[in-house]
Amino acid sequence: MSGGPAITLKSQPIDGNNGNSGNAAAQQQQTANNAAAAASSSSSSQASSGTVPPAQEGTRQSSLQRIQLRKQKVFNLPEAQKLAKLSMYSACQFEGCRCTGWKTPQENRHRDVESSYCPEPTEECRNASCRHPLRSHISHLTEISRSSMDELLGAIIDMENLFMSMQRVEDEDTKKVYLYLFRLLRQCVLTRQQAVIRGPLGDPPFESPCITKAVLSLVFYKYNHLNPTELQTMTEVAKTFLNFLNHYNFESPSARRGDPTLTHEDASTYKINYTRWLVFCHVPAFCNSLRQFETSLVFGRTLLRTVFQYMSQQLKKKCISERDRFPEDKRSIITQMPKFLEALRAELLKDDSPIWDSTYRPPNSFVVQQRKRHQEVAPPATISSAGAAAPSGSKRSSVGEPAHKRVKKEVAERVTSENQDDLPIEVVMRAMKSVAESKTSNKSEILFPINVSRDENVKAEEQKRAIEFHVVGNSLTKPVDKQTILWLLGLQLVFAYQLPEMPREYISQLVFDTKHKTLALIKENQPIGGICFRPFPTQGFTEIVFCAVTMAEQVKGYGTHLMNHLKDYSIQRGIKHLLTFADCDAIGYFKKQGFSKDIKLARPVYAGYIKEYDSATLMHCELHPSIVNTQFIAVIRNQSEILKELIAQRHNEVQKVRTGLTCFKEGLPSIPVESIPGLREIGWKPQMRPVRASRPLEESTDPEKLATQFASVLQSVRQHTAAWPFLRPVTAAEVPDYYDHIKYPMDLKTMGERLKKGYYQTRRLFMADMARIFSNCRFYNSPETEYYRCANSLERYFQTKMRELGLWDK
Ligand code: COA
Repeated sequence: MSGGPAITLKSQPIDGNNGNSGNAAAQQQQTANNAAAAASSSSSSQASSGTVPPAQEGTRQSSLQRIQLRKQKVFNLPEAQKLAKLSMYSACQFEGCRCTGWKTPQENRHRDVESSYCPEPTEECRNASCRHPLRSHISHLTEISRSSMDELLGAIIDMENLFMSMQRVEDEDTKKVYLYLFRLLRQCVLTRQQAVIRGPLGDPPFESPCITKAVLSLVFYKYNHLNPTELQTMTEVAKTFLNFLNHYNFESPSARRGDPTLTHEDASTYKINYTRWLVFCHVPAFCNSLRQFETSLVFGRTLLRTVFQYMSQQLKKKCISERDRFPEDKRSIITQMPKFLEALRAELLKDDSPIWDSTYRPPNSFVVQQRKRHQEVAPPATISSAGAAAPSGSKRSSVGEPAHKRVKKEVAERVTSENQDDLPIEVVMRAMKSVAESKTSNKSEILFPINVSRDENVKAEEQKRAIEFHVVGNSLTKPVDKQTILWLLGLQLVFAYQLPEMPREYISQLVFDTKHKTLALIKENQPIGGICFRPFPTQGFTEIVFCAVTMAEQVKGYGTHLMNHLKDYSIQRGIKHLLTFADCDAIGYFKKQGFSKDIKLARPVYAGYIKEYDSATLMHCELHPSIVNTQFIAVIRNQSEILKELIAQRHNEVQKVRTGLTCFKEGLPSIPVESIPGLREIGWKPQMRPVRASRPLEESTDPEKLATQFASVLQSVRQHTAAWPFLRPVTAAEVPDYYDHIKYPMDLKTMGERLKKGYYQTRRLFMADMARIFSNCRFYNSPETEYYRCANSLERYFQTKMRELGLWDK
């Protein structure tokens, strides 16, 4: 669904300078001058003006082209000049020297290695604490391949562009992100590693279903009844919308402060999503050393809801202003756009819209048809097609390959490689068919199937609409219909009867509280069960406060299905954790629903947000974003039946008796193993070349010994003078907005607890938690703070300690 006519609205977010630079500082200064007019990010211009800047289709294009041209120019430089450029960002290899980049001598400061200047290997570094020759900054680089060298140079150019953008951007949140990415790239260049973004923002995709999928569903849901030409038009409209979204410059959170369409909670969620968008979608479009993701593929309803109103206005205006530029036969896209936007808006607002239900799937025939159409109609040139150059020769992509193509190619490659070991599709289809047939042929014989889970019976009732599930809640801002009030009253009674220990007033207070919602199970228009809960989207969890089913309806599977619905509802809203305080009678039930007393969420994430009870046990359930819980049991059951069938089929193959080999009697001394009949059929595969043992440290170390070593490192780290900010979790009371920014907190106390519980089974897990402490600190605090300095100094100390024990890769 990507592609679509190029109605785009953008300004220039990241610098693409003309690239005449001498050394890092001069380079940065020069870039600032060169790119003065166009350097500031969309966010800053929006922030300052309060409106979206004028559409500058060409600006982004030319910015991308400039970056690409500069990269190409650098890739074509003579090797000595390339090495000189690299030396400016490479650590001095002189024993004990801590200089991290060769500095051009004073007399040559005005000269530029990207043009004619080629310093001699003997030229001395201007850094007073180094003074070593340029040679000592590149001695470790002379052997690297041309493609690795270009990859490093590409990252350096991205880094320099980021630096310049950082200087010019006014918005503080955006500046912080640029700084973070700049440091990340700087570190990657220094260590010669691929840039991978890990940390408090989580990994994409952030929500399911993604916007692309929901929009495709909308086309089916709303327009499938149209004739093929009209349906084709609506598909084009949808693609145009997605294209617009994928190139849309989101406003910075500070620019939206005071926006009446955003509640306080929405604003915090928007801030997180804006940061994610910058890091994973927007900046990588210009810096292709960072992996780029398409906005519409990684974000879902939450983001779209917060930007839709303004964005759709912009799109409508664009449609009007660009109407005449559109070819005659495509004008219908423009005329249909308002209708499409209205339909999408309605579905965005509806809580139970099917298009935002991750289980909703248009029939395969529709999807296939759409794909075919998509392939037939080559996507028109969009701004992405002028994507910046990718480092050449690497596994990733070739120079100049558009970023969006790279993403698609990666996905395609992944799919192909994932499929490599799969059974042939015909074999699986045969097994599925046979399972389905055995089910229908047995149906009449079994009156009470004993191995059908209660969940299946509940689902059958739901399908017949004998029962329904609704999320209801009170509101002070919108009118609440009578039906909702009646159900809330009924639910209040169910909770009061089933939870006699709870004061009734307390139950009423929460059920009617506007921040709480209740998932109601309705039978014959009466609530017979429900789960009252409060979502904390900024913290990424939902708290379950009451859960009950009326006595007469218990142990029929309703409790399980209610919980599965709540899980799916939460996942769709980007929430991946459920928390509840269970009294001892309820612990068994919650355990069966996947809850555990082992709380995997860091305490500061929920402490102060939920009410804590002394007499109850806190339980936690982590949700997997790709699991549709209401289907899960059925899917697993079905899969296991298909597996059994496949095993049975394989069994038949294996049992086949084959005639023995006669070739040896006929005089052949040997034959290739793979030619022995039947061997492949029983699963034998030609042996691959043994894989080089790449991480001997991790694989060969005994876990107990590792744990002792980790304990000693942790002890030393705790006692270090720079450890004080990291000794225990940061509390929301001390730093109220900390958890708005830091999604995955970590501290030395939590690490100690994890160590005791045996969590650190590998060196990598231990190092990852420690690294998170430092990256969180550097993400939240600015470089001039004491905290930031502590993180740097403690990190160095940690690495030394690990090295002393032989636990650090060279
Ligand atoms: N202890 C241990 N297991 C329990 C249980 C309990 N108190 N209540 C239910 N279960 C088990 C069921 O036996 C079933 O297990 P199985 O699938 O292995 O047979 C599983 O949990 C779920 O049963 P299901 O039929 O889906 O649940 P339900 O419709 O009976 O609803 C409750 C479960 C807990 C909501 C319901 O029993 C109830 O309302 N209890 C009183 C209120 C309460 O204690 N609420 C929880 C705290 S707020």
